[in-house]
Amino acid sequence: MKAKKSGKTHHHGDTTTPLPPVGAIAAPPSKSAPTKRGRPKGSKNKPKPTKDAVSKEYDLQWFPERWMGESPYPWQFNVLEALNYKESRVALKAANGSGKTSMVAASAVLWHVVNFPDSLCVCTAGVFRQIEAALWPSIKRGVQTMTGGEGFEVTQSGLRFVNGARAIGFSASDPHKAEGWHRQGPTDNLMFIVDEAKACEDGIFHAMERCQPSRILIMSSPGAAAGYFYEAFTKHRERWDTFTVTAFDCPHLTKDWIDEQISTYGEKSPLIRSMIYGEFVDDSEDGVVLGLRELEGCLQEPPERKDGMRVAFVDFAAGGDETVFCLREGNEITQLETWKERDTNRTIGRLINLFDRHGLVADEIYGDEGGLGLPMCDALAESGFSIHRVNFGGKPFDGRYQNRGSEMWHTAARTIANKEVRLIDDQKLQQQLVTRRVEVSRTGKLGLEAKDKMKSRGLASPDRADAVLGAIACGGGVGGSWERYSSFSKPSLSELMEDAQLLAEESSLPSGMDAGG
Ligand SMILES: Nc1ncnc2c1ncn2[C@@H]1O[C@H](COP(=O)(O)OP(=O)(O)OP(=O)(O)O)[C@@H](O)[C@H]1O
Ligand SMILES: [Mg+2]
Repeated sequence: MKAKKSGKTHHHGDTTTPLPPVGAIAAPPSKSAPTKRGRPKGSKNKPKPTKDAVSKEYDLQWFPERWMGESPYPWQFNVLEALNYKESRVALKAANGSGKTSMVAASAVLWHVVNFPDSLCVCTAGVFRQIEAALWPSIKRGVQTMTGGEGFEVTQSGLRFVNGARAIGFSASDPHKAEGWHRQGPTDNLMFIVDEAKACEDGIFHAMERCQPSRILIMSSPGAAAGYFYEAFTKHRERWDTFTVTAFDCPHLTKDWIDEQISTYGEKSPLIRSMIYGEFVDDSEDGVVLGLRELEGCLQEPPERKDGMRVAFVDFAAGGDETVFCLREGNEITQLETWKERDTNRTIGRLINLFDRHGLVADEIYGDEGGLGLPMCDALAESGFSIHRVNFGGKPFDGRYQNRGSEMWHTAARTIANKEVRLIDDQKLQQQLVTRRVEVSRTGKLGLEAKDKMKSRGLASPDRADAVLGAIACGGGVGGSWERYSSFSKPSLSELMEDAQLLAEESSLPSGMDAGG
């Protein structure tokens, strides 16, 4: 679930106790003029506080600059902004020494304590020593900068502010001790921070979930491709705001230092992949069609926009599952619409509406004709849209694949791995893209994990991925120009003739246009 950007985060309003927080503390003498990074200037000489000014006063992302005279990097600002919202769940994987503990966690703790009276912030780390050795010293420094210590009571792994709010460091060695914390104070707040999450047992996270915190931050340099922290980026990605940070995003980590690390350990070594690039160690172990590293590479370095064919793909569903409409224009996924609807007529109506809104003609539209897809395709045809029918279980173009569905998934996944397509920002889609496993049939054909099997692993049907990968693979694929007739289960005579002509012309076209291959 994405954090809603609507909630106001300043919650003093409903309490009757006059509280000294933010506004009561004199801002520290700014060490240096904080970098504005192009954002609007503050409230200083303005008669009315603007929205930005209010945000600067109370929102977490402005806290380090306003109260500690620090200049967070853009990624630190973005992570804090995500955590600003109540009910946020933020997962951060970042290079070693990037500033997770001293900038992100320490600011969050101090902000929470200062802003929410009688609230609680619980901090733990895979290795508890880290709390006392890294986080608390940063918190102590922050306290000194803010008030010179006034109003705060800091112990080795405890913090209390005059408003009754507390932060505690807690040793994660015993998950049972993690029970019993709850949201508290007039604003009902409990923040949970897990540092070095890669070294934390899953039991701790489950205990954390049972406490139902109002904000969660889990962060780490990434480790093995398994466990709760890994799943926040994969299987459960749609529940989290995810961030990945490389050493190159951190100006204090010099190019020389990075180069030295890389030349010592090797560009491809697991250590470098994790400590510099913020990647989990070898997620290919998991046997998925598309690895997280490959997906994130494509998201982080998308190709230039290229015009080309428009291809829409529809994955039909009734009842519980989602109907998905995806539109690709050239090398870019531009639309992803999903809905749940029991009434198939309404779904047909909605689809026709979408086709019309985007000015699509039948020839640009592809749909899954399996199961319920068949009557849906028929209904669309009756309404004038004889769309291309794709049979996932049908014959592939390339005999090395088990069926057309596998072929579409594998070829489109390769397009993503090669950074040839501009994807759309959708956590649920991303979750589905990186969780389906490869299966090789008894005859050695490349296939996909069955949906039933995925269900037994707690994964929903990957409908969004079906539609997006369909849109990437159909119409000749990204960069391609047509689809061969074998994908239509019921080609019309004119389609057959048209295709025969196209096939005849094929030899005169440059290589690399083999549809779906
Ligand atoms: N915005 C910033 N500007 C300047 N220096 C920064 C900034 N953010 C972090 N740093 C510096 O980065 C260094 C490392 O910070 P920190 O220990 O918090 O990183 P970390 O990501 O927690 O590292 P580790 O992976 O070892 O846990 C600190 O010395 C800090 O001063
Ligand atoms: Mg740290």
